[in-house]
Amino acid sequence: MRVDLKGQVAVVTGGSRGIGRRIAEVLARNGASCVVTGRNDQRLRETEECLKALEPSSRAMVLHVEALEEAEALAKSVFDEYGRIDILVNNAGITDDQILLRMKEAQWDRVIETNLKGVFNCTKAIARYMLKRRYGRIINISSVIALMGNAGQANYAASKAGIIGFTKAVARELARKQITVNAVAPGYIQTEMTEKIMQKTKEGIVALIPQGRMGTVEDVAQAVLFLASEEASYITGHVLNVSGGLYI
Ligand SMILES: NC(=O)c1ccc[n+]([C@@H]2O[C@H](COP(=O)([O-])OP(=O)(O)OC[C@H]3O[C@@H](n4cnc5c(N)ncnc54)[C@H](OP(=O)(O)O)[C@@H]3O)[C@@H](O)[C@H]2O)c1
Repeated sequence: MRVDLKGQVAVVTGGSRGIGRRIAEVLARNGASCVVTGRNDQRLRETEECLKALEPSSRAMVLHVEALEEAEALAKSVFDEYGRIDILVNNAGITDDQILLRMKEAQWDRVIETNLKGVFNCTKAIARYMLKRRYGRIINISSVIALMGNAGQANYAASKAGIIGFTKAVARELARKQITVNAVAPGYIQTEMTEKIMQKTKEGIVALIPQGRMGTVEDVAQAVLFLASEEASYITGHVLNVSGGLYI
């Protein structure tokens, strides 16, 4: 799919690898200047190099999404440098799996702080700059686990379900300002996050997917590209599953 994002500025959190990195590449390939964020400096430098080859004004910056003041400082510095922020992809996320009775409070807190509070922080920090120009596309990466649940992932499922409620509430708040807010709910996608899953478990998961395969980062990135386009202006508060039919 090709859309015209020339002149637009996108911020992609957790863009240093996996799904986020491919989202940034696809947005840059379609003309957007991309600011990718992550924690790992070395990885960010590599990603920046690759993005600059696609769109020279792209760059990478360190951001711990759970820290509101960092998100606010990043939003200000992007706006000061580029004069606009058109697209925000809230992609940064982690898992820390354990069955409920063994789950430590710290595991619960860490996943909620990164996955859910991180989305609040970055959206709050960046939406104010979108409001100035009365245009924006906010895309939050949830998961089919939010819709289906999964044993051992109470913290992750709650964080991703929280993102869906957040998406729908903020979509209503910003609708009159030409800012759309949508969620993408990927199924099982091949990345470092799912590399941790044991081979036998993976085979069991694939057997449950009607299309008979795990998804690719490109599958998710193309869905995000569509929602980020001007053409998707009448879609807001929606949850788009990208799961090969795992959740229907
Ligand atoms: N893979 C799947 O099957 C799947 C399915 C459904 C939903 N998702 C969601 O899709 C998103 C991306 O997943 P992925 O598989 O690409 O994960 P990944 O390969 O583990 O990459 C996670 C990214 O998030 C960043 N990150 C993690 N914690 C952060 C923090 N506290 N502050 C800032 N950045 C942070 C990482 O940065 P560093 O490199 O600096 O650590 C990295 O760029 C996540 O929200 C995930 O929950 C994934």
